[in-house]
Amino acid sequence: HRHLLGIEQLSPADITAILDLAETYVDLNRQSAKHSDVLSGLTQINMFFENSTRTQASFELAGKRLGADVMNMSMQASSIKKGETLIDTAMTLNAMHPDLLVVRHPHSGAVDLLAQKVNCAVLNAGDGRHEHPTQALLDALTIRRAKGRLHRLNIAICGDIAHSRVARSNLILLGKMENRIRLIGPPTLVPAQFAAFGAEVYDDMREGLKDVDVVMMLRLQKERMDGGFIPSEREYYHRYGLDREKLGLAKADAIVMHPGPMNRGVEIDGTLADDINRSVIQEQVEMGVAVRMAAMELLARNLRGAA
Ligand code: CP
Repeated sequence: HRHLLGIEQLSPADITAILDLAETYVDLNRQSAKHSDVLSGLTQINMFFENSTRTQASFELAGKRLGADVMNMSMQASSIKKGETLIDTAMTLNAMHPDLLVVRHPHSGAVDLLAQKVNCAVLNAGDGRHEHPTQALLDALTIRRAKGRLHRLNIAICGDIAHSRVARSNLILLGKMENRIRLIGPPTLVPAQFAAFGAEVYDDMREGLKDVDVVMMLRLQKERMDGGFIPSEREYYHRYGLDREKLGLAKADAIVMHPGPMNRGVEIDGTLADDINRSVIQEQVEMGVAVRMAAMELLARNLRGAA
C-alpha cells in the first residue's frame, strides 16, 4: 500500500503484519535507548486540523524514535486562517518533498482527497466520522496481547457510535478478523446501517454486555451533535455509562477499553477506568506509539522500494 487511509483497504494479512511488526516496537519502547534508524533521511510532517493529544504525540514520538526528521505544523498559526484551502496547503508542503504526511481533519473524506494530490505517503490520523485506522490497529494489538488472540471474541462497542470514526474502523477491523461484535447505545446514536457490517445492535446495556470478552467504551461527542439529540449526562451515565455493576454482566476476565479522551462520569466510571485489573486504557496509549512506528516503517519500505 502507498498510503494508510483506512482499515477498509487492509486485508487480514496486512493487519497481522502491522501488529507483528508493532510487537517488536513495544519491546524497543520499553528500553532506555529507544532508537532505530529505519526512517533516517525521511521527512514526516504532522498536520492536525483538529485537536489531539494521543494521536499527535504518538505519531511525533514514533517518527523521532525511528530517526525521521519530524515537523509538526501548527494549523492554528498557519495560512489556513487566512483562507488558504486544504489542498493548497497540502500542495505547498508537498513542494518541500516530505515523505510521510500524517493528517487529521474534521471532514470525512478530506484525507483521501489530499492523498490523491500529493506525492508522499499519507497516514489518516482521523477524518470526521469516517476512519481512524491507527486507533483500530492499536486497539487490536491491545486486545491480542490481553486475550492471546484476535479472533472469535465477543466484543461490545458502546455509546456514541454514530459520530465515531473509532467505532467504524474497529467494526471493520474486528469484523475482518472474524470476531462477534455487538453495538450498544441509544437508537439515536447507533445508526441502523451499522448492522450491515454484521454486528448485533442492542439498546439495553445490561443485555448487550452479557458474556462479552471486551468492552470498548466511546466518548459522547457533543461537538459533533449539530442541533440533534443531546442526552443529559446524568441520564446517559445511568443507562449507558460503564460502572462495576454493568461490567459484572460481562465475562469475569473482560477487559475495559476507551480510546480517550474520556468523559469521566459520563460514559465511564472514573475509578473503573483507573483500575489496572480491568482497564487497559493506558496499554492502548502505549500500543499507539508501537503501531504508528510499524505503520510508518511499512510505508517507508514502499517509498524506498519505489525510489
Ligand atoms: N484516541 C484519540 O484519537 O485521541 P486524541 O484525539 O487525543 O488523539
